[in-house]
Parts: sequence; structure tokens; C-alpha cells
Amino acid sequence: MKPHHHQDHPLKELNILPKTQRSSVLTLSVTLILITIACLYFSLPTPFSIPSPPPVDTKCDVFTGEWIPDPNAMYYTNNTCSAIHEHQNCMKYGRPDTDFLRWWWKPKGCNLPRFDPEEFLSVVRGKSIAFIGDSVGRNQMQSLICLLSKTVSPNLIAETKIRDQTHSTWYYPTSNFTLSNFWSPFLLIASEANPTSPSPIGLFHIHLDHPDPAWTAHLSRFDYLIFSAGHWFFRPLMLYNTTTTTTTISCSNCKDNNITHISVYDAYRLAFRSTFSALKGFKGTAFLRTFSPSHFEGGVWDNGGDCVRTRPFKAEEGRLEWFQGEMYRAQVEELRAAAERESGGVRFGLLDVTAAMSMRPDGHPGRYGRPKNETKYNDCVHWCLPGPVDVWNGFLLHLLKVEEARIVVRSAISDAVRLRGTICG
Ligand SMILES: *[C@@H]1O[C@H](CO)[C@@H](O)[C@H](O)[C@H]1NC(C)=O
Ligand SMILES: *[C@@H]1O[C@H](CO)[C@@H](O)[C@H](O)[C@H]1NC(C)=O
Ligand SMILES: *[C@@H]1O[C@H](CO)[C@@H](O)[C@H](O)[C@H]1NC(C)=O
Ligand SMILES: *[C@@H]1O[C@H](CO)[C@@H](O)[C@H](O)[C@H]1NC(C)=O
Ligand SMILES: *[C@@H]1O[C@H](CO)[C@@H](O)[C@H](O)[C@H]1NC(C)=O
Repeated sequence: MKPHHHQDHPLKELNILPKTQRSSVLTLSVTLILITIACLYFSLPTPFSIPSPPPVDTKCDVFTGEWIPDPNAMYYTNNTCSAIHEHQNCMKYGRPDTDFLRWWWKPKGCNLPRFDPEEFLSVVRGKSIAFIGDSVGRNQMQSLICLLSKTVSPNLIAETKIRDQTHSTWYYPTSNFTLSNFWSPFLLIASEANPTSPSPIGLFHIHLDHPDPAWTAHLSRFDYLIFSAGHWFFRPLMLYNTTTTTTTISCSNCKDNNITHISVYDAYRLAFRSTFSALKGFKGTAFLRTFSPSHFEGGVWDNGGDCVRTRPFKAEEGRLEWFQGEMYRAQVEELRAAAERESGGVRFGLLDVTAAMSMRPDGHPGRYGRPKNETKYNDCVHWCLPGPVDVWNGFLLHLLKVEEARIVVRSAISDAVRLRGTICG
């Protein structure tokens, strides 16, 4: 696998979604100003107050930048937050260094504000968010709970098992905000061929044409969905596509020569295509949280690979491995295609963590995701809590504010149009 300099990545120009949003905010703002001027021209007393959008730098491309030292950046610890998953509780398991906690993300030419729990809780008042995907998605949800725990801790209102993984729903009564996670590592109906096999990477059967009802059945309860998937796709997969008349089978990473082989990237691409087309009729916003790079060095994940660095890469050292760039390309192209197909209804957004996290080889649990006496693989996939994954929720807050700004401007316009009809007209 060749290292690939992420700055040259051909998909950099794909950060187009925020720009689209920007121009619509601009258009709407201009319209609003014109309408207001039209009203004032008739010298009427100000008939209504224009709600001011929450302050957000909608022009900021938050996802391109670098990590800068931030000596005060420790927001919580393993003692102040009880939501940290055992395997990401690096402090508890004796990670000796803490410098990796003291960085924040600096977008080029603008700033990503520190995560402000009060502000987050006000932006999501009356709203609900679902994290849909694998354990790295849960990693982000637990980071969010920990970041908010500085202000308030949620009530666990429901807990069920989805295929032996916990699906939890949390509720924040003071802001009427609901947070859930749905375990669905392939986002589609999937089953392990031989669940009792001792191999940690057994074959999975994946139904490309069937998004997982574990999450599709609950969409209407949510305003925001955050989709993610990644490392499970590197397993051997048997992929089925059933129509009324035929079933076609393909596979990736499999040994069966009688079956059409497709690449991991194509399997990943088809999974997102199918996932995004399952959102017809959903009225909220669906974010794609992009591929989260792992950082095994000195070996592969199950054969000596480890991640022992203690500081981030600088922007110029940044490296996204070629295969990780292909995963990113596949999912972002599918997001763009889905957003272009969509007319009304669901809105799509990009939570683009890939470049930022490619620079954080120091943020993984490594050998500190388990008790010392347990010999297991080093975890260079998930992220320590607290840790750089906390910045994902800074990105999320930014995106939610951009969304809110659009909604506020839009409702101000419909108010203005309605009032102009009665007062100015
Ligand atoms: C937090 O980590 C420290 C070691 O840094 C450990 O002594 C303590 O027991 C941990 N607390 C919890 C609640 O696990
Ligand atoms: C909480 O939010 C939901 C969804 O927006 C809304 O239907 C409900 O009335 C709200 N409840 C309270 C107590 O504000
Ligand atoms: C499944 O097969 C149908 C018919 O050949 C095709 O139109 C569709 O794109 C395929 N879906 C996937 C996810 O491959
Ligand atoms: C592949 O197909 C051939 C001919 O149909 C058959 O003899 C062989 O057993 C098949 N191999 C596998 C691995 O299924
Ligand atoms: C590791 O040590 C803990 C605490 O002493 C003990 O409870 C646990 O069973 C041990 N695990 C193994 C795999 O030896």
C-alpha cells in the first residue's frame, strides 16, 4: 500500500456540499434583505422582528486545516464521564502520555470554535440525532455524551440488543433532546456465515438490496442521521442482489473462483448507494461521517501492528493510505450522487473527518484499550476518549449551526412574505 499525500487527493474538490449550502444561505439572505427594504420603502412601522441566525461562519471550510497545540484542551476525564466504552478508556488502562489530548483543529483561514455544550444543547433543543453504523460511530456518540457531561448528563431511556450489540437511547430533559445509536456495521442486512468460527474475520453474507431494518424502521423519529461504516468491509463478503426475478451474487476478499469478484471499494460504494436510496420520505438531514483512518505500523492489525506515536502528523506529513483514499472516494461520490438525485425531502451533509484524522496516529488506544494482562490485538482503529475524536463533535456543532441558520432564514422569509401580503401589499 503506497502512502498517499492527502493534500493531493483528487477528492478535495468534493467538499462541495457546504458551498451549496452557503450559496443558498446567501441567496435567501439577499431575498430577505430585499423584502425588508421593500417593506421599509412603504414607510410602515417595522411589523415584525427578524430572527437573527445563530452566529456561524458559513463560509468556513472547516474540514481543511491542521492540528494546533491547545494546552487547555482536556474537556473531561475517565473520572468525570461514565459513558466511555471500556475499550476506548485509555486513561483507565494506563496510557502514560497526555500530550495527545492537547490539540484542537484549525481550519485554513477560519476557526472551528471549541465545543460549547450549552450552545450544542440550545441548537438541538427539541431535536433528535441517531448515529447509525459501527463501533466507531458509537465512539463519536460517547464523545458527544462526555463533552455534554460538563453541563448535563442524559437519562438512559431505552436499551436493547441488536445482534448482541447495545442500542441505547439517551434523553436530555432540559433541552428535550434525544440521542440514539443503531448498531449496523454494514448498514445493510448482513449475517455471519459461521458465527462460531474461531477466525476473527469470518465470511459475511450482505444483502445489497436490503438496508438494515434495525435502523430503517426508526427513521421517522429523528431529525438528524449520522451514517458511518468502514473497517468491517475489509472482511470476506458474499454480496447478494435480489430482484423479483433473479439473485446475483458477487464477493469481495473471497476465495471462491466461481463467483464474480468485486473490490472492497465497490462493495462499500454499493452499500452507501443502497443506504442513501432508503432515505426517500425521510424529512430531516442525513450526514455522512466519512471514513475514519486506522494507523497500524510495524505490521498488520492481527500480526504485530501497533500505534505508538504520541503527537499528530503535521499537515505536510499527512498521509492517507491509498486504500483509505479509495474508501473515502467511493462513499463521498455516492453522497454527491444521492444529493444530486434528491429533490426536496431529505437533505444531505458531509461530516468529513478523514483528512483531519489521517494526521492523528497518536489518538488510538493501541495497547491501552484493555487490561494489561489481556493479550489481544492493539487497537489502532478506534479513538481514545477523551481524544481527537472529540473534534468530530465540534464539526457536528458547526454543521448543525449551518443547518439552523438556513432554517431560521427560510422561516423568516416565509414570515416576511406572509406579512408583506397583509401589511405591505
Ligand atoms: C481513571 O484512570 C485512573 C488512572 O489514570 C484510574 O486510577 C481510575 O481508577 C480510573 N477511574 C475510573 C472511574 O475508571
Ligand atoms: C419535545 O420535542 C418533540 C419533537 O420536536 C415535540 O414533539 C415535543 O412536544 C417536545 N416536548 C416538550 C416537552 O417540549
Ligand atoms: C441489483 O440488480 C438490479 C437489476 O440488475 C440493478 O438495477 C441494481 O442496481 C442492483 N443493485 C445493487 C445494489 O447492486
Ligand atoms: C465451481 O464450478 C464448477 C463447475 O460448475 C464446480 O465443479 C466446482 O465445484 C465449483 N467450485 C466451487 C468452489 O464452488
Ligand atoms: C486480568 O486481571 C484482572 C484483575 O486482576 C482479573 O480480574 C482478570 O480475570 C484477568 N484477566 C486475565 C485474562 O487474566
